[in-house]
Amino acid sequence: MKEFHDYSLLNHNTFGIEAKAERFITYDSVDDLQQVITHLNNGLSDRPLLHIGGGSNLLFLSDYKGVILHSHIKDIETHNDGNDIFLRVGAGMVWDDLVDYCVENGYYGLENLSLIPGEVGASAVQNIGAYGVEAKDVIQKVECVDLKTSENRIFTTEECKYGYRSSIFKKELQGQYAVTYVWFKLSRIFEPHLDYGDIRNALLASGINEKEITAKQLRQTIIEIRQAKLPDPKDFGNAGSFFMNPIVECEVFEHIKQDYPNAPHYVIDEAHIKIPAGWLIEQCGWKGRSLGNAAVHDKQALVLINKGGALGKDILELCNVVRNDVKNKFGINIHPEVNFIGGEA
Ligand code: EPU
Repeated sequence: MKEFHDYSLLNHNTFGIEAKAERFITYDSVDDLQQVITHLNNGLSDRPLLHIGGGSNLLFLSDYKGVILHSHIKDIETHNDGNDIFLRVGAGMVWDDLVDYCVENGYYGLENLSLIPGEVGASAVQNIGAYGVEAKDVIQKVECVDLKTSENRIFTTEECKYGYRSSIFKKELQGQYAVTYVWFKLSRIFEPHLDYGDIRNALLASGINEKEITAKQLRQTIIEIRQAKLPDPKDFGNAGSFFMNPIVECEVFEHIKQDYPNAPHYVIDEAHIKIPAGWLIEQCGWKGRSLGNAAVHDKQALVLINKGGALGKDILELCNVVRNDVKNKFGINIHPEVNFIGGEA
């Protein structure tokens, strides 16, 4: 365990916002975390507690007046069972290091989730997803520690109540558990998921025959698609998709189609359609536009960026203006995927 006071969070949020935590504590094992919880309880700390991962889905609106926890549990165990391979992975491992490790070792299933920023623990909280695959498709169970009692608890995938970018850890049990290990069920047989539009176009462009594609080629293709659209936080602070794609009733979409016959959409079920928020924002004229030091990314309007020196409140202001414009033009509420810390959305 390591503890820091009045600690800069600049390297712990991909938005590159300068904010400080009153106390910042890292731990290296489950035992260590349990000791941290006892230590906090003994100190009768009534300060707010926040557990963070890679900080790729956070927007600090002010300094954090409380305790921030960060996992340094990074080990991997593997268990074979025929063509299945089960991995128990420490929550503090960088997500893309896990994807790389799996592709290198011939453990398949994570390729489409290449280059998603963040850490393994957050993948199970956020149900990260990209290019037709979601974390819930490969998660088998999630080991947690109760942040009040320090007891261990294992959640099955069903108990995690996964939905689009959502889980029980973001809803009913928000802030109550720290994820310590995530179990993944992968396969030794490579079955590529190529159905997401951008993938086949990219394979065509690079002359890869989809019948002969390897996992490494698929990972590389996904990396190239992401790099072309999503800004590198080293260049411009950002948190990936800022908004979730809204799911609306079919009638709402039918109305939009009258004016925009080619509007992109995904059918969810008989009554619901998901519309890319990036498209809605682009139609409102925001793609590439700035408001002070905050801007809408010029290659993917779902992403808000810090042009340099933006404060959390500057990004929030842009978020609110964009949301209002989408609401006024289309009558649709779009909701941030990013978690606001220290203020109201
Ligand atoms: N589009 C536009 N203008 C834009 C952006 C998108 O018209 O500025 C339209 C295009 O028609 C495009 C469609 O929206 O075909 C979908 O765009 P894209 O494939 O980039 O995906 P998305 O729906 O905008 C979601 C995820 C991304 C994930 C991609 C690929 C959410 C909130 N975002 O974005 O996840 O990488 O699909 O699967 O669901 C993230 O969560 O941080 C993230 C990057």
